[in-house]
Amino acid sequence: MHVSKARARTNIALVKYWGKRDGALNLPAVGSISMTLSSLHTTTEVGFDTRLSEDTVVINGRPAQGRERERVCAVLDVVRQTAGAGHRAAVRTENNFPTASGLASSASGFAALAAAAARAAGLELPVSELSRLARLGSGSAPRSILGGFVELPAGVLADGSDCVPREILPPDAWDVRLLVAVNGRAEKAVGSTEGMERTKGTSPYYRQWVETHAADMQAAADAIRARGIARLGAVVESSCFKMHASMMAATPPILYWNGATVEVIRTVRDLRNAGLDAYVTIDAGPHVKVLCPAAQSSEIADRIAKVDGVERVIVERPGPGVEILT
Ligand code: DP6
Repeated sequence: MHVSKARARTNIALVKYWGKRDGALNLPAVGSISMTLSSLHTTTEVGFDTRLSEDTVVINGRPAQGRERERVCAVLDVVRQTAGAGHRAAVRTENNFPTASGLASSASGFAALAAAAARAAGLELPVSELSRLARLGSGSAPRSILGGFVELPAGVLADGSDCVPREILPPDAWDVRLLVAVNGRAEKAVGSTEGMERTKGTSPYYRQWVETHAADMQAAADAIRARGIARLGAVVESSCFKMHASMMAATPPILYWNGATVEVIRTVRDLRNAGLDAYVTIDAGPHVKVLCPAAQSSEIADRIAKVDGVERVIVERPGPGVEILT
């Protein structure tokens, strides 16, 4: 039996991915730019074993079922094809944070799975191939293969070979923080995949979302290279609110926010009016993530922690890409 263990951190999109150009290959309709985090992570162990008659997948101690399991098996199938081996696998994966809460467990989960499964099958794959495997599981997962600030272009090619993540800045090149204001643990009502399809199919703003996206990608990448937090923050908020506005206008509407989400947004605006550099972004869940310079992070985190409904604030810095542990 060949066993390998890998760890990947979650990433938070600064310029958002929402919508697919190809559902089967999980190719995004728009590019995205993210920061890989330092502490929220998934650790995944994969062992191919001749004695197994089917793949077993255990996530946080409980057997995976339905679509969750299918997505893992789809990645394993491609690894088996590539390695020319047919053995079934035992997969054990642990998150150090709540699953399906908008904390992007699918991104770290599939990045760790791709790396562990490839290594367990004896494959040494380049970033392009690892990211293709990770993408089969989740469109945001290729970004967690790399550390620091990462760009994932949408690409135009039908096989997705031009949708490969690349580094904009390595983790230690810019000392910023993302504060994750956790304000609820409920599993999300509408999964990202379904939410994207509904937005694409019914929102009158979806076309504008896609059409205005390239300018945001360019502006954000330039701001990151120039380490301009105010310039980056303006694009981060705009991309976030455009994405949420387009999904709120879908039929039926998609709303991931709760009351505390709005209160954190307001608090961050107040902090900015008081001269601090703080900028919000929100994913498919109620938590608000706040981008700020390292030097201001304790003051901003203290203020956000006092907002009604905020349970805790996790302070994240730019973190590393996927690592093989064994
Ligand atoms: C709002 O990667 O979870 O977090 O590709 O369908 O698995 P699938 O979706 P997923 O969507 C992430 C959406 C987002 C924005 C982002 O991370 O870019």
